[in-house]
Amino acid sequence: MLNLKGRSFLKLLDFTSAELEYLIDLAENLKKLKYAGIRPQNLKGKNIALIFEKPSTRTRCSFVVAANDEGAYPEYLGKDDIQLGKKESVKDTARVLGRLFDGIEFRGFSHETVEELAKYSGIPVWNGLTDKFHPTQILADFLTIREHKGYLKGIKFAYLGDGRNNMANSLMIGAAKFGMDFRIAAPKSLFPEEELIKEAESIAEENNASLLFTESIDEAVNDADVIYTDVWVSMGEEDMYEDRINLLKDYQVNSEVMAKADEEAIFMHCLPAFHDLGTDVMKDIKEKYGMEELEVTDEVFEGEQSVVFDEAENRMHTIKAIMVATLGNQ
Ligand code: CP
Ligand code: NVA
Repeated sequence: MLNLKGRSFLKLLDFTSAELEYLIDLAENLKKLKYAGIRPQNLKGKNIALIFEKPSTRTRCSFVVAANDEGAYPEYLGKDDIQLGKKESVKDTARVLGRLFDGIEFRGFSHETVEELAKYSGIPVWNGLTDKFHPTQILADFLTIREHKGYLKGIKFAYLGDGRNNMANSLMIGAAKFGMDFRIAAPKSLFPEEELIKEAESIAEENNASLLFTESIDEAVNDADVIYTDVWVSMGEEDMYEDRINLLKDYQVNSEVMAKADEEAIFMHCLPAFHDLGTDVMKDIKEKYGMEELEVTDEVFEGEQSVVFDEAENRMHTIKAIMVATLGNQ
């Protein structure tokens, strides 16, 4: 029996494949219980701080709903609500929050901040996204793949687009841990950092996974079970649209790309996605660059192969599993 009590969840690199699989199994069980109307109250009496330096829909709401389902109290601390790093150091804030709360979620810029919070707070800290990693998203994605495909080992997984952002980094490590056949198609300048590739390669070897970095979409997508993409410009990089559009316009996931994958392939995206003109950002992009869709076309996003809203729901079940496993009363 695995015991993750008291552990932080900062990056997938800190966990064994068995521990990650355990969290996905637990999420699956908690999901069944919720569907049956059973709320086990595993976090009854716990107080949880939710620190957000960047905006969020899914992650914030998942932590709040999961906490409520299990009997915990979540306190939202937005970027203007606490001093964190501005008038009080991260180290001091961590020690204060550690005296008051039972667990801390952090979403923000620097990955070092979340590591520091964990180091000095003395309580479990969960990474709700940093510039480098987005580990809770991967558990939701892999639960979704398992629900649709029945297995994870050997899954042919093609990621197209910005290959060096938090999502690509985390998917690469997760795929290596779960023995997948993982491919990234991106321009060379947007491949993951050399050092992280090396780490991923050694994990891949232990788990019989394979990793491919290519500029060729055909090579990446051929026969794939999963086609995944993310935004071309991540939070905090908003001045990069022109550069990224120029670099990535050929890496859009459209019906032509989907046709090259396995006919039962699923389309995935962590969301939010730029697939239509429903946002201010896209209206602006259309005016400046004439594009109405970026990383994925509306046809694919809304198509039958798309499982993006299953992923979004699974954020809650997997975040609940992480909190229950690391902080639960049982
Ligand atoms: N996928 C994801 O993390 O979404 P939010 O930014 O809405 O939390
Ligand atoms: N790469 C994206 C993920 C959003 C969930 C970002 O960091 O903005």
